[in-house]
Amino acid sequence: MCVVSSSSSSTHHLGSSNFQAFPMDATSNSETTHDSVYEEIESFFDSAPPLKDRSDISRKLKEFIARDSHSTGGGGATRVVCVTSGGTTVPLEKRCVRYIDNFSSGHRGAASTEYFLKAGYSVIFLYRRGTFQPFCRSLPEDPLLECFEVSKELNVQVCQSHSEAVKRAIGEHRAAVDEGLLLKLPFTTIFEYLQILQLIAMSMKNLEKHAMFYLAAAVSDFYVPWKSMVEHKIQSASGPLDMRLVQVPKMLSVLRNDWVPMAFCISFKLETDSNILLEKAEKALKKYKMHLVVANELSTRKEVVVVVTSSEKISVHRDKNEADADVESPLIKLIVEKHSSYIEGSDY
Ligand code: PMT
Repeated sequence: MCVVSSSSSSTHHLGSSNFQAFPMDATSNSETTHDSVYEEIESFFDSAPPLKDRSDISRKLKEFIARDSHSTGGGGATRVVCVTSGGTTVPLEKRCVRYIDNFSSGHRGAASTEYFLKAGYSVIFLYRRGTFQPFCRSLPEDPLLECFEVSKELNVQVCQSHSEAVKRAIGEHRAAVDEGLLLKLPFTTIFEYLQILQLIAMSMKNLEKHAMFYLAAAVSDFYVPWKSMVEHKIQSASGPLDMRLVQVPKMLSVLRNDWVPMAFCISFKLETDSNILLEKAEKALKKYKMHLVVANELSTRKEVVVVVTSSEKISVHRDKNEADADVESPLIKLIVEKHSSYIEGSDY
């Protein structure tokens, strides 16, 4: 089946006011010319449907960052990390019934957010709707129905067996939000994800070395440009579906080189074949000039990750002696140390 263009009224052009492109460092990427990366990115943003709540998100970000620098006397000494979490979707129709999804439960991002907060960071949590949330990981799958009961007097109360977990989740979450340390921004599609990521990057630029990007989200590699997407549900009566997907430009290089050149940037590499994992992580480190790449294999991702830097590969394991321990605890400890060295200028 061919993907036909839809009416121009629903085709949006963001233009240069929404896409803030910057000339890229010509030496930054040996395989792709900076002009072609620039064009791909511009074309992605130009053809993306505009964010519905763009001004609201910008306002929240501005307030969050301002509150942060005020609380540190304007010196900007507080560290802020943007944690991305969950998978992006690629809609196949404008009135979307079907979409391509990327695997990620959001557990890594949610757990990491908790440890960053404990380490004194402010966190912008860019997450896929419906995935794991910080402080809620120990709750049952349907907390509303499983944690609460209705008494004879029709009062709602917490079941005894879950009361500690509920108290902790609500208390810690509320404290982080009320103190202005946690800002949660949801996305569903690849279009939303990349536009919000750009807004976050722009808002964090002045934090320079105190800013960190921890890109744990599973981001789509292919998408249907909005301009060539059909309006209505694709009909199965037309026979087999034949659809052309365009490559999503890797935003890592533009993020690193242009959006936030001073920020500490960590990307992830996920593979199912352990034989190629470290090689691919090393390639990504060099190609996108990341400070660290966290390599993980799908089946063991909760037990071990390997932190790849330009000079070493460090295996980080979950503490098996502790029942509830998770790999994110030692991982974030290591990352915070690396970030400190970066800020102090003793590394990178
Ligand atoms: O959420 P969980 O179930 O706990 O699982 C965690 C995880 C396995 C999803 C996480 O640890 C992880 O590995 N996330 C990255 C998965 C991924 O998309 O890997 P990748 O090799 O396709 O991409 C590598 C990096 O490039 C990522 O940091 C991604 O943000 C970035 N990327 C990818 C595609 C794209 N078009 N642009 C990008 O910038």
